[in-house]
Amino acid sequence: MELTADLQSRLKRCRSLVVLTGAGVSAESGIPTFRGAGGLWKQYRPQDLATPEAFSRSPEVVWEWYDMRRSLIAAARPNPAHQALVDLEALFPSFLLITQNIDGLHRRAGTQALLEIHGNIWKARCTVCAHVFDELRNPLPFPELPRCSLCGQLARPHVVWFGESYDAQIIERAEDSLSHCELLLVCGTSGMVSMPVFLTRMARDRGALVLECNLETSEISSLADFSFSGPAGETLPQLVQFFRE
Ligand code: OAD
Repeated sequence: MELTADLQSRLKRCRSLVVLTGAGVSAESGIPTFRGAGGLWKQYRPQDLATPEAFSRSPEVVWEWYDMRRSLIAAARPNPAHQALVDLEALFPSFLLITQNIDGLHRRAGTQALLEIHGNIWKARCTVCAHVFDELRNPLPFPELPRCSLCGQLARPHVVWFGESYDAQIIERAEDSLSHCELLLVCGTSGMVSMPVFLTRMARDRGALVLECNLETSEISSLADFSFSGPAGETLPQLVQFFRE
């Protein structure tokens, strides 16, 4: 790591860490990202699969796409980046991981303090009564579609789609922790969706140090005090080592 001595000593003084992750953190588990080479949005049109309108038009097509992704995720395992974030949680007195990922791999790795701001692919939500429940069947028994475990009406994936609002309470909790944290680590997100940029700006404006880990320059890079260029599965374990020393 090529951190200046000054930055190293400022980092070592930090007691509260917030981590913000995106699809890049799961890339080394074999789960495709959205925008890079081989990204999902190169292959599929979001407006056909990840909008409320697409679901109203053809719920079976949307559920099939999520079912395909669930199969990929079920076969994947948390990678060294996920594990390093579990280790960082143990090292910092105050810790929160905010993820845009819906794959559940942070929880499977063992992260405790977790906000899934885009929802979770293993949960479903009733389109009528909004009840959220675990939908763990994989593969789904098509042509039967998931039904609410309470009222029996059609259920949808419990994820945030394009054109939908975030859960206000979840964002409030994210903002609260970011306004108090001393260090923000942003990892594996392009920042092409505005929320990570907004949250990073907020932490920075409140005085947090900002580190980034990405394979390439992103919308976050210009906001970071330092950007590590490289795969999260290598960088994050090194960062754990640095904080342990
Ligand atoms: P993107 O696909 O937009 O960006 C992934 C980022 O991860 C890129 O900046 C890559 O350079 C970086 N990356 C790839 N492999 C990496 C690795 N091994 N180590 C470190 N970085 C790596 O994914 P997100 O930013 O997460 O939302 O996308 C945000 C949201 O847009 C997603 O949650 C999804 C999508 O539309 C919805 O579906 C609602």
